[in-house]
Amino acid sequence: MASLVLENYIEDLCIDFSDKEDKYMKLKLPDELIFIKNGREAQKKSTESMSGKLCVITGATSGVGLEALKKLAKGGAHVVMVCRNLEKAEGICRNIKATWNIDIDIIIADFSHLDEVRKAAKVIIENYPKIDVLINSAGLHSTKRTYTSEGIEMVFCVNHLAPFLFTNLLINRLKESAPARIIQVNSEGHRFNGLNLEDINWKKRHYTGLRSYGASKTAQLLTVWELADQLKGSKVTINALHPGDVRTNIGNNNGWLYKWFLHNVTWHFLKDPIISGEAIYYLASDPEINDVSGRFFNLTIDEKPAIHALDPFKGKRIWEISMQMTGLYLK
Ligand SMILES: NC(=O)c1ccc[n+]([C@@H]2O[C@H](COP(=O)([O-])OP(=O)(O)OC[C@H]3O[C@@H](n4cnc5c(N)ncnc54)[C@H](OP(=O)(O)O)[C@@H]3O)[C@@H](O)[C@H]2O)c1
Repeated sequence: MASLVLENYIEDLCIDFSDKEDKYMKLKLPDELIFIKNGREAQKKSTESMSGKLCVITGATSGVGLEALKKLAKGGAHVVMVCRNLEKAEGICRNIKATWNIDIDIIIADFSHLDEVRKAAKVIIENYPKIDVLINSAGLHSTKRTYTSEGIEMVFCVNHLAPFLFTNLLINRLKESAPARIIQVNSEGHRFNGLNLEDINWKKRHYTGLRSYGASKTAQLLTVWELADQLKGSKVTINALHPGDVRTNIGNNNGWLYKWFLHNVTWHFLKDPIISGEAIYYLASDPEINDVSGRFFNLTIDEKPAIHALDPFKGKRIWEISMQMTGLYLK
């Protein structure tokens, strides 16, 4: 998310006082901007095997999720792909199997339909007695305000409500499988905020793509802290990560001008999503973080999120709102 202008600004801030007595004294970056430095740091890698582990992953037909799928396959995991496009998933599945010869299954669910999320969770519970890792990567960025058939703002539904529902429906199976891990693919984009508890559905405000994306990711982060609290002592961990600023298909659903800018300008500053796959694999497998829960990682670096995403009052409220909107309170 960091623009070049912003990065240069930061470089300027890190003045080297080489002519002063303390040769290496540098101005410290404020917390709000540390994510730029973290994104450039050397990242950790896991060499753990995932053989014998069952991993459920959404959004594995493209970008970040696809790279995570490849790493999991290389690590020998049994993978369940939850995705909306059967043809695309089958093609990927064939390639993965041909290269790594792992067990890989496909379950179809469009995350803009909460009923499909419920059905997918039911199929998983009926067919898989153990889940070691759940990775929610499906997501989108939309410059236009649209609504699902249930009347929920699309980005909020796919990025937050659907994975919230999916995770909660699988939570008992994850607990039975403990130790288990949940990874929510979040974003530095949460820093755009946009979450208004009085107007979750963007009916009263001017809608922008960045703010609605920020709202969905902020809501997700707040519920990660809440669920981490609830899971204390269960040996099920939940963490969120920013998967890097990487070249994927995100935003390709938007208009031609947006796409032109994305592919001709922004693209040059983005990295290969291989780094996202590596980071997710680290969070999914590395023993170093066996007991780490309720944290936000910039790739593999533990980072402080924006202050608005740490508000405990908002956390409680968004949890209740999400429970109501997904019908989980009625269960
Ligand atoms: N790229 C970045 O720089 C970046 C930065 C920060 C965070 N992220 C996050 O990374 C995650 C993955 O995004 P990406 O960059 O990999 O984008 P992407 O290449 O567009 O992949 C998005 C994935 O989500 C799936 N998806 C989208 N809408 C869906 C729906 N309604 N139901 C089910 N699946 C749906 C897509 O399925 P199809 O293949 O069928 O379209 C695809 O598998 C998102 O949560 C995003 O917010 C990305």
